[in-house]
Amino acid sequence: MKAIGISSSGREGAYSKRIVNDILMESHVEFEMIHLADLNIKGCLGCLKCARSNRCIQDDEFHTLTDKIIEADALVFGGGNYYGTLNAIGHAFWERTFALRHQGAFPIEGTLGVAVGLDRDKEKREASSFIERMMLSNKMALIASLTVSGHQQCYDCGFGHECKEGNVYSHIGITSAEDAESKRPLEYTCEDQKEARSIGLLLGSILRAKTA
Ligand SMILES: Cc1cc2nc3c(=O)[nH]c(=O)nc-3n(C[C@H](O)[C@H](O)[C@H](O)COP(=O)(O)O)c2cc1C
Repeated sequence: MKAIGISSSGREGAYSKRIVNDILMESHVEFEMIHLADLNIKGCLGCLKCARSNRCIQDDEFHTLTDKIIEADALVFGGGNYYGTLNAIGHAFWERTFALRHQGAFPIEGTLGVAVGLDRDKEKREASSFIERMMLSNKMALIASLTVSGHQQCYDCGFGHECKEGNVYSHIGITSAEDAESKRPLEYTCEDQKEARSIGLLLGSILRAKTA
């Protein structure tokens, strides 16, 4: 019984890394955590050369990663919303799963899936809904989805919306770095952490029941 955790973030302190890890820790299942930004995975070329073989012709690390996912019982995938959809690093990975599903193959059909999206507007769920859609189009068994308010880069760069020194954070009514720190919104909150833990418990119990 093994699970794979994937974060599509390139950030050191990424929420997706932390949340995916928290879910898997709570599942008490053996797991491997993979950071997509460390791998060389290009986007789909749309060449359709995968149609006969279900194997993409691009020679990169997509193949070793998919071998691991095919062998695993569960995939917990987390990534952030960049401009209304999942960030490009994560998008490239999901595009490439097109290669797997010709002629009714669907090698990850039934693999348990958990989607974790970082979205400022939790109602819109732009990153989470993309991940869910991709899991379902691969016929995975989506068991849970969690949307967490993502990290707000504008609180950190120091230049504010106008991108001029001296205009620090003024677009959001904050005029000093100290002010910004005190007004920083809570991101990965206690409530979200509780939800992540309960998803982890659910995942662990389903996996143990499946193999009992
Ligand atoms: C280039 C860029 C574009 C972004 N666009 C959006 C966006 O359109 N909507 C949104 O809610 N968050 C947006 N964000 C914020 C990210 O979703 C947020 O930083 C999230 O926490 C990233 O996931 P991570 O913490 O796993 O790195 C953007 C961030 C960057 C760097």
